[in-house]
Amino acid sequence: MKFQSLRGMQDIFQSDSKKWHQLRQAYQLVLNRYGIGEVQNPILENLNLFVRTVGDSSDIVNKELYSFQDRNGDFIALRPEGTAGFIRSIIEKKIEHESHKAYYAGPMFRYERPQKGRFRQFHQLGVEYVGFPEGDADLEIISIVADLLEELGISQKAVIHINHLGSSEVKQQYCNVLKEFLMDYKDSLSEIDQKRLETNPLRVLDSKDESAQDILALQEVPRYEEFLTEEHLQLLNDINDTFQERVDISIDHKLVRGLDYYTGLVFEVLSNELGAQDSFIGGGRYDNLILELGGKEQSAIGFAVGLDRLLTLFEPSNEDRKKIIFINLAGSNRHHAYKIASNIRALSKKVTVESILTDASLKSQLRKANKLGGDFVLIIGDDEITSGNFIWKDLNEGTQEIVTLEQLTGKITHL
Ligand code: HAM
Repeated sequence: MKFQSLRGMQDIFQSDSKKWHQLRQAYQLVLNRYGIGEVQNPILENLNLFVRTVGDSSDIVNKELYSFQDRNGDFIALRPEGTAGFIRSIIEKKIEHESHKAYYAGPMFRYERPQKGRFRQFHQLGVEYVGFPEGDADLEIISIVADLLEELGISQKAVIHINHLGSSEVKQQYCNVLKEFLMDYKDSLSEIDQKRLETNPLRVLDSKDESAQDILALQEVPRYEEFLTEEHLQLLNDINDTFQERVDISIDHKLVRGLDYYTGLVFEVLSNELGAQDSFIGGGRYDNLILELGGKEQSAIGFAVGLDRLLTLFEPSNEDRKKIIFINLAGSNRHHAYKIASNIRALSKKVTVESILTDASLKSQLRKANKLGGDFVLIIGDDEITSGNFIWKDLNEGTQEIVTLEQLTGKITHL
């Protein structure tokens, strides 16, 4: 029997790994600038943690959780996102009243219908700020997002949409008014939107369904902005003005998020180069969540980047690393040749010395060297070890020369 990977789950191979590596380096650089440290939480959590945080009206909890009963009969779920686990961990350690600037990166799991940009195992980089009330922290969070876009060279491909959901009372008030309004049109809504109307009417604003769009285009639709205070609107304007010059940013009062825990600022970053799954960063403020999970009252805001989506936008720079292919033709002195290769590896951070570990003919090893994308070939045989002269081939120039160990050292340190 031959096995296949599960639907919506991907193997990441070497050439893609390089891109992932550069992506990680770029985001770590930005996060270091802000003094944000890494946390690592488990991939498995108690199922109820997600029901209580992400929300039982969300698609994630309703139909996308990977959950099972473990051998002890406990209900467990693979994490669909990272905020819940991080908050659980600081409450558990009784440090939720302190301030935290944390990031995490790793796989998340949602049982969604796979399509371009949508996987069942995907990867997020998440940033969470705990203990910073509305104001400066909201600006700093958007600043991190703008820096990430710049550092990755994708600012031109991205738009940031921001909105304010008000306090939880305002959110509830607007939900009620919107529901009352939409009830008159219930029969024209799709089955999914009719359900949303019952569980979380805000999500209808997010609907891609045409009939919902038509209804929402009506003049009389209650508008979120009319429920917001001056301060809420001011925050949106401040953020908009602050980042206008650096990124394409706009206020979008129709933006609501798919997770229930948000109040206050919410935002998404979209790109029209991504197709239907065009949102690659999402976040917002969740000042009530810590209290709801049994912790102390504490403000919090954060976001998560969908790294798989980001990866398709990001073009890694050409590495200036040079590749030397090492061919060992030595017989009894093989180990000595490997020692020389090791010494060369240590000479420069900018070289890779990749050995061909076969005893195939020189011709076929040279063919392999080309296939591996080598820039140079270093050939060491018994004679070379005795004479101290090595064969050095430049594959890009098509030249070959005999070099002493000293000359070789000079060449490599100058690559
Ligand atoms: P989210 O909007 O559910 O937010 O997910 C964040 C990002 O994860 C999305 O913008 C998307 O790029 C990516 N993503 C989600 N589902 C998939 C999928 N099936 N395949 C590929 N990528 C996907 C959260 O998860 C919140 N925890 C963000 C947050 C942190 N809010 C506050 N702190």
